Amino acid sequence: KRDLINITDLDLDELDRLLALASDIIESPEKYQDKCAHKTLATLFYEPSTRTRLSFESAMYGLGGNVVGFSDANSSSASKGETVSDTTRVMECFADIIAMRHPKEGAALVAANSCDVPVINAGDGGHLHPSQTLTDLLTILRNKGRLTDLKVGFCGDLKFGRTVHSLILALLRYKGIEVVLISPDELKLPSYNKDAMDDAGIKWVETTSLEEALPELDVLYMTRVQKERFFNEEDYVRLKDTYILDEQKLESAKDDLVIMHPLPRVNEISVEVDKDPRAKYFDQVKNGRYARMALILMLLGIEGGLN
Ligand code: CP
Repeated sequence: KRDLINITDLDLDELDRLLALASDIIESPEKYQDKCAHKTLATLFYEPSTRTRLSFESAMYGLGGNVVGFSDANSSSASKGETVSDTTRVMECFADIIAMRHPKEGAALVAANSCDVPVINAGDGGHLHPSQTLTDLLTILRNKGRLTDLKVGFCGDLKFGRTVHSLILALLRYKGIEVVLISPDELKLPSYNKDAMDDAGIKWVETTSLEEALPELDVLYMTRVQKERFFNEEDYVRLKDTYILDEQKLESAKDDLVIMHPLPRVNEISVEVDKDPRAKYFDQVKNGRYARMALILMLLGIEGGLN
């Protein structure tokens, strides 16, 4: 079986085929509406989610399949002390594929090693979020027409931002990528991501200034400073509004900039930016459903089999 725990579990050919499949689903959804008839997805969400859980569920329904699961660990037997491993073994009795979000790094890998059905990491703590990366790649591809030769800025909480960690690991696969890391000193990208960029020969720079970085970017990936990852409220309050993207700042940006955000946002993108044609974060949400439809089909071996 194949799982998706880290975006690097997919090679470049598989990634490209998955994105092509997602694009085909967008163009012709009716071709896929019964592909998962009699298949069941389990969504095991030990941490809050709006987009990821509901887009997985919507994806499975769009493929004609069924969904079981929980969105609140307190309503599951985890609250009685059941381990991730045991819960996963139980769920494979009811489901053909599992999407799991958990606050602990590595939890999805434990789940994958505990069962015989494909497991998708739907976010493990501040570590990785590979299905969001598929959404992000699809959004960049559909807006820029390519995944190569792009200057991509990541802004905000790069330390705990699992969407950032995963997307950077994916972008390493493509030629001509340059990365600009924009964060306060306390929220810098972890060294394992920087080492991966060095190993791949990717050009990257670090700055604390969004204003300085903005004019050269092709893609700006904003992120939320995540209250739930901080040990102390004082640090969160001090850092949470470090970057606020507004129309005034965007005057210096390229006309074809793609503004992305995995959402939810708090203050980091002013709502006035939503009307800017460069704002693509709600398109990103829509793309998430199609990327996850493609992922389910490929992991179940129904379309575009994995190598
Ligand atoms: N992008 C994302 O992971 O959103 P949710 O936390 O709402 O799932």
